[in-house]
Amino acid sequence: MTEPRLVVLRGRRLTATVLVGDGVPELVAVGHPADGPTAAYTSTAVPHGGLDARVPLGVVAEESVGHLGRPGIAGARDDGSGWSPRFSVREAEHDEHRFVCTLTDPVAELELEIRIRVDDVVVVECRLTNTGASSYTVHRLAPSIPMPHTATDLVTFHGRWVREFHTTREPWHGLRVVENRRGRSSHQSPPALIAGTEGFGEQHGQAWGAQLAWSGNHDLAAEVLADGRRHLQLGELLLPGEVVLEPGESYTTPDVIVAWSDRGVTGVSRAWHAHARSIVPAEGPRPVTMNTWEAVYFDHDLDRLCALADVGAEVGVERFVLDDGWFGGRRDDTAGLGDWWVSPDVWPDGLDPLIDHVLGLGMEFGLWVEPEMVNPDSELYRAHPDWTLTTAGYDPVVGRHQLVLDFGMPDVRDHIVDAISRLLSNHRISYLKWDMNRDIVQGSHEGRPGVHGHVLGLYEVLDRLRRRHPRVEIESCASGGGRPDLGILAHTARVWTSDCNDALERQEIQRGFTTLLPPEIMGAHIGPPRSHTTGRRQSLRFRAATALFGHLGIEWNLLDASEDERRGVAAAIALHKRLRPLLHGGDVTRGDHPDQAALVHGVVAGGREHAVFAYVQMATARASVPAPLRLDGLDPDSRYRVSVITDLGEPRLAARGRPDWIETTIEASGAFLAGHGLPMPVLDPESCLLVECHRTG
Ligand code: DGJ
Repeated sequence: MTEPRLVVLRGRRLTATVLVGDGVPELVAVGHPADGPTAAYTSTAVPHGGLDARVPLGVVAEESVGHLGRPGIAGARDDGSGWSPRFSVREAEHDEHRFVCTLTDPVAELELEIRIRVDDVVVVECRLTNTGASSYTVHRLAPSIPMPHTATDLVTFHGRWVREFHTTREPWHGLRVVENRRGRSSHQSPPALIAGTEGFGEQHGQAWGAQLAWSGNHDLAAEVLADGRRHLQLGELLLPGEVVLEPGESYTTPDVIVAWSDRGVTGVSRAWHAHARSIVPAEGPRPVTMNTWEAVYFDHDLDRLCALADVGAEVGVERFVLDDGWFGGRRDDTAGLGDWWVSPDVWPDGLDPLIDHVLGLGMEFGLWVEPEMVNPDSELYRAHPDWTLTTAGYDPVVGRHQLVLDFGMPDVRDHIVDAISRLLSNHRISYLKWDMNRDIVQGSHEGRPGVHGHVLGLYEVLDRLRRRHPRVEIESCASGGGRPDLGILAHTARVWTSDCNDALERQEIQRGFTTLLPPEIMGAHIGPPRSHTTGRRQSLRFRAATALFGHLGIEWNLLDASEDERRGVAAAIALHKRLRPLLHGGDVTRGDHPDQAALVHGVVAGGREHAVFAYVQMATARASVPAPLRLDGLDPDSRYRVSVITDLGEPRLAARGRPDWIETTIEASGAFLAGHGLPMPVLDPESCLLVECHRTG
């Protein structure tokens, strides 16, 4: 028996402490270094009524050693053997930031590799290989991330179409499972969990977050074991028989990305953002976008779209994106998906006249596609009815009149790569909005569940297209925010956050989104005065101040807008461009404001020299004089000049008196601004105060 030892992996924002002995290594702590005496981990109380020795909780939790919670590995051979493997270390090596360990189980005839690396976050990945002579079906392989006993509160994510990224906080007892079986990471439950010390907030308490970098089905668990230990377990949800390893084959888990902070959830977000910024394939400033969807829907007309582009260019738009409706027989959402050629009915001279016009105005041109889909009413389906993710012998379940192509099939992947590539080669397109508008139901590939293969196929197709067309950026859209995860973000540059452009809804959606992912990949559009998805009316000031913080766009038929409104949009775009380096490169901050009717968020530059904050009045303030606005994240020892941003017009104030600083500027220390805060005026509901800070000394 080898004497167990502790390996401490150090990153920029956290450490991971791994206990390495003969069996599966245990990740014993994430956060502060925990390299105390090894015996503190190896010799613990053995309770009555239980097993006779301490039960390890490995990075892959094994039933075979007495772990009677959720196992991290589940699977079997056809004769039932191999269902509860027990691995022994063959070799383990590490440096200051990385740990790699290979383990074997000669009885189950399996090999397991565990990789842990630490930088801004801890990344855990496992690979299982079948070393036997018969096939091995994998049911689950999911790493366990330990949480301390003090992590008693849990936050989960949930939502639906037009209401994504909402959170629920609950006391963490027993086992809480979050499953997603929709075939995409989903509006319903993006793959993330956050645990924290009692009452943890945006700016206080310890918090640990874990995201699964995967764009298909997932199975997340937060478990308190009978002995009081806690762990988060995140893995792909594998459908029955979905992953069968033939001799010599391997299954690799999606990365689990763990972030930690001892200063609340904002700190966790910053670590996740740093990680996302290191993987997202995008360069340079994010161009202000005009998207045609809510402006014209399927009603494509060259003259009207050119006129829309003219107004876009006038107000400062930098990228014009033609949405759904330009191809095949696509006159509405019942037909045409799969036929990726320009419709001669609607575009008799092709897309070039529009592209010429857009480029002539100095903007980039982008195009909508939905390559994973096919309408039964399409040339592609008529030619290849067998290319879909369906199950032979059953009528397929359609969604938005469409079926999913089976990206697990090499022929399908080749066809799509060629079709989209042709489009990109024949047109001056620098941006694709890649949509995915339905869940996957009964999706079989060669008679077995095919979601896993579809997701891997999707990643491959995106990579092949990016290699062929390295200057084309791709956006991940799935009926709005149905596929927002750190898996797709290694292949795409932006996420369409939600089909809801209502600013009130957006404030909450975007707060949830930026908890997980950075603001520059968050598509945020100024919609028309009356929201298409909620019917609410909001001022341009409120709509613009809400969209300002993301990757800004306009999704509104500006041909219908008044001169005044166009001037307002131009001012919003100019403000966004001025603040863009800060908004898209700085550290996000979210406040713990005492009034539930208000939200506070902002961005602080990495060097703390510049910051912008939003105080958002969501509903009528609870108190007649609102609580002070505290500005978190500034350098406490520096002084700042603080002023209200009026580029979007004067804030609507709902009281006679107002604090002086609203109309002048004020100078104060970072410590004062975070600790005491500034007196607030009374704002109307659905309005917003933007505040800018510059360091003066
Ligand atoms: C769903 C997307 O979320 C919308 O923005 C739009 O592109 C439509 N699909 C087009 O069909």
